[in-house]
Amino acid sequence: MDKTLDEFKNLKQDEKAVDRSKKLKVAIVGTGWIAKSHIQRYLQMEDVEIVAGCDLIEGKAEKLYKEFGIEGARFYTSDLEMYKNEQLDAVSVCTYNATHAECAINALNAGVNVLLEKPMCVTTEEAVEIMRAEKKSGKVLSIGFQPRFDNDMKLVKNVVQSGVLGKIFYIQTGGGRRQGIPFPYGTSFIDPKTGVIGAMGDIGCYSLDMVLNSIGYPKPLTVTGYTSDFAGKNPNYPGYVKSGHPEYAKVFGVDDFAAAFVRLEGDIILDFRIAWAENIDSPCDTIILGSEGGLRIPATECWNGSIGGDMTLYHTVASELVETVIPRSSGKPVDCFYEKVRSFLDAIHTGGKAPVPSSEIIYNQAIIDHIVKSAKLGKEIPVEIPEV
Ligand SMILES: NC(=O)c1ccc[n+]([C@@H]2O[C@H](COP(=O)([O-])OP(=O)(O)OC[C@H]3O[C@@H](n4cnc5c(N)ncnc54)[C@H](O)[C@@H]3O)[C@@H](O)[C@H]2O)c1
Repeated sequence: MDKTLDEFKNLKQDEKAVDRSKKLKVAIVGTGWIAKSHIQRYLQMEDVEIVAGCDLIEGKAEKLYKEFGIEGARFYTSDLEMYKNEQLDAVSVCTYNATHAECAINALNAGVNVLLEKPMCVTTEEAVEIMRAEKKSGKVLSIGFQPRFDNDMKLVKNVVQSGVLGKIFYIQTGGGRRQGIPFPYGTSFIDPKTGVIGAMGDIGCYSLDMVLNSIGYPKPLTVTGYTSDFAGKNPNYPGYVKSGHPEYAKVFGVDDFAAAFVRLEGDIILDFRIAWAENIDSPCDTIILGSEGGLRIPATECWNGSIGGDMTLYHTVASELVETVIPRSSGKPVDCFYEKVRSFLDAIHTGGKAPVPSSEIIYNQAIIDHIVKSAKLGKEIPVEIPEV
């Protein structure tokens, strides 16, 4: 069994020598909370110069750049204005969900490479429009799913890809927080005008990515979806009471819970649920069932980028039922946010494939969007994705 475990751990390294001698001119679009993590990582890169910043709110980008001691940058309240005045190689689009599509498309149309924060956008149609702009521009578009770079996430994929589970037929995934509606810097996650989608766009997309990436992103075929907002709409929700913001219940207009039954190509069933405030410790571990074995991946507390504990592989050896614990990686922890940015920049240097490509994430987005559509209709619907 040790041999098998070693095989799982043998993470594929895609390290190629990259010529990073060209200095890339970079800007951030949307300078709120997550923008900080992008700026921190860009400042660690010798091949990057942060030359501009853009936020709808006058002075916000300037204030943030000052915090980081960035000098000589120019500031804008319109991304289109910025592209008229700047020769940029890349932007990080860190706006709230509602403007992901518009900002990514504007950048691609201006011939700029894009690192787009997750979720990709808010509808299937928007995702297709982004991909059309990407295709026309020939630029790199990578989506900000940093958990992909975590060693344990890679281990999940290695176990699944090893074939030890046989033919995969059922996946349960999701999870969430007992009480964790996010509003640390205001209401951009919970206001339907800015967030548009709630728990699904915040954390559901991560759990979908973990399992779909491990099985090679099959196309979703049909979705039966359900969404609710009991916690978010409740003025007595403990998070609102403790923070002194009962009025957020009135602002709240997105999903705080979603569940779905999804049929995937290859005769695979995906059973999904995600919650911001589920009133229980966890609604599910992730389990992947195959004809030869099953895999249990413990849930995390809040989908912060890794798995919640050692995995267990349930299989049969010489007709005996065997459970093999696959320990979490004991190696040096990876800074997934650094790798997310580094891999994007390297794809620009090499003219290579996006590290987290839209051709995969469109299925993640389509599942979320069809959950919304199915929930409204109250019935199963086919997944329809227009041609790119
Ligand atoms: N990868 C991660 O771990 C992670 C973590 C947190 C948030 N996010 C994602 O990042 C995005 C932003 O989240 P946040 O918490 O930073 O939000 P935020 O509300 O703090 O910041 C968003 C900023 O974008 C600006 N903005 C919106 N539309 C714009 C436009 N058209 N042009 C210029 N500026 C615009 C807003 O004024 C605001 O300052 C969300 O989509 C979220 O899902 C990702």
